[in-house]
Amino acid sequence: MSEEAGKPPVVVVSEETSVTSGTAVQEKLISAARVFSNLLKPTYGPRGLDKMLYKTNGSTAVTNDGAKIVAELMVKHPAAKMMVAMGNTQEEACGDGVTTTMMLCGALLEEANNLLSKGLHPLTLVDGYRTAMAVASEQMDSDAVDVDEERLLGVAETALTGKGTEAAIDIFAPMVRDALTAVEESVDKPGAEHVAMFKIGSGGLRDSHLIRGVAIRRRVLMDSLPNDLVNARTVVIGGDVKIRKMTRTAEIQITSAEQLDGFVEAESERKSELAKALIDSGANLILAGGEIDRDILHDLADAKILAVPELDESELENAAAATGATVLDSVLDIEASDLGLAGSVRWERRQATDQVEDIITIDDCNNPGAVTLAIGGAGETATEEIIRGLHDALRATSIALENGQLLAGGGASHARIAHAVRKASENESGRARLAMDAFARAQETIMATLADNAGKDSLDAVLEMRAAAREDGPAIGIKADGEVGEVPGVWHPRAVIEEGLESSVETAMSMLRIDQVISARGD
Ligand SMILES: Nc1ncnc2c1ncn2[C@@H]1O[C@H](COP(=O)(O)OP(=O)(O)OP(=O)(O)O)[C@@H](O)[C@H]1O
Ligand SMILES: [Mg+2]
Repeated sequence: MSEEAGKPPVVVVSEETSVTSGTAVQEKLISAARVFSNLLKPTYGPRGLDKMLYKTNGSTAVTNDGAKIVAELMVKHPAAKMMVAMGNTQEEACGDGVTTTMMLCGALLEEANNLLSKGLHPLTLVDGYRTAMAVASEQMDSDAVDVDEERLLGVAETALTGKGTEAAIDIFAPMVRDALTAVEESVDKPGAEHVAMFKIGSGGLRDSHLIRGVAIRRRVLMDSLPNDLVNARTVVIGGDVKIRKMTRTAEIQITSAEQLDGFVEAESERKSELAKALIDSGANLILAGGEIDRDILHDLADAKILAVPELDESELENAAAATGATVLDSVLDIEASDLGLAGSVRWERRQATDQVEDIITIDDCNNPGAVTLAIGGAGETATEEIIRGLHDALRATSIALENGQLLAGGGASHARIAHAVRKASENESGRARLAMDAFARAQETIMATLADNAGKDSLDAVLEMRAAAREDGPAIGIKADGEVGEVPGVWHPRAVIEEGLESSVETAMSMLRIDQVISARGD
């Protein structure tokens, strides 16, 4: 008899802990992934619908943006959490293609599940997926085309499609492209960080426009301040424009009226000195991060200088970048080279209520380092969604500008990948071939969903696409109306598609490698 007999089994975890092993593990993870990707499916593509998100604090958002939905869902399931992490990575890396990535990962796992239940080893699947990914990369090498002016517009349009900008996409897509090309001269890599968003708060979507500079919402302090400046030399000051208060409490005994006069005079002299320094600098526009003294403001108004106080840090930085000015610490050390140039400056009085303030627009800057997309429309929730769409489009378009390679959208590239992987699998003997075929089928979830969301039969669409992908020639994909056909002008940066595919494969593989789930919560 062995020593172990008769002894109670060793318990290393608490009683509530449940341990799942074997294929039940993958089934558990895969069903969570399925729920998650099914949740996003209806939002996918040009005919995708929106989700309304209602948070515990009562705030709502209406969105079609995968990243936003993922960020707002408080998922608990570990498999779903892995997918959330993947979605966040895609959003950070590319700003677009989050829904694609989620759906691909879900499909890869779904396909895996079928093979696992037939007895395939998880690591065989992992190997097959890895080989397939290498074939996919090669196919992308041969399908990628170079970016040009027209296709760049296509990239912006594709990223904006279905994101609430539909009614004015002809305005927004050029705005996105022009915003990035406007900053090209003065920044290394034009990107979304060089483009500010400004909600006009009135009018309609079609009033949206690009400002080659910045827009600021502030009260203009005096009616007599000049308006409609042209080629305004601009000074940007980080802090206050006022005389410094004594830092220590000092008591000054004044014994005569002359002494008091002298004291007041000295103070006003110091103010004049500051005003003089500003006027002498030749500035027409002064932007300050802090307060501007009333007396100094009067002097500036007399000298026909527009001065705007209390800008926040990002406004100051953007204004300095747009005009080419240096943000100064002190008024007294202005040098000619610190001044920037604003092509045009105008301000518009808004009715004085609690919220509405005047809008000051600094526009037409030459080679601006920062520009602004002014978005028309009064609805807050709708404007937020448009900003998300514009942000995706800015990210995608800047990636296209930076690495210059594009792939066709509408499922066209995924269909080509599926075809290439299938072809490559024919040379593969053994079970890895099954995994590669599964990978190819998973790609087809993209076209199936696009067709489905447009109200078309997804199986027919997939079969038609399979046939089309055999031929070289113009990209054939699912058009916005759900029909199979040429999709000219539907472009993604290669990186958006490639990184999305890579991370979906990585995430799926890491789930397939898990052999036990040990849950302390007992579920
Ligand atoms: N005009 C169009 N015609 C056909 N397909 C289009 C068109 N515009 C976009 N698409 C396709 O729609 C899909 C993108 O949909 P969507 O923007 O909803 O998802 P995503 O980009 O993956 O995720 P998200 O934008 O939420 O981060 C891509 O396959 C894209 O090629
Ligand atoms: Mg998108």
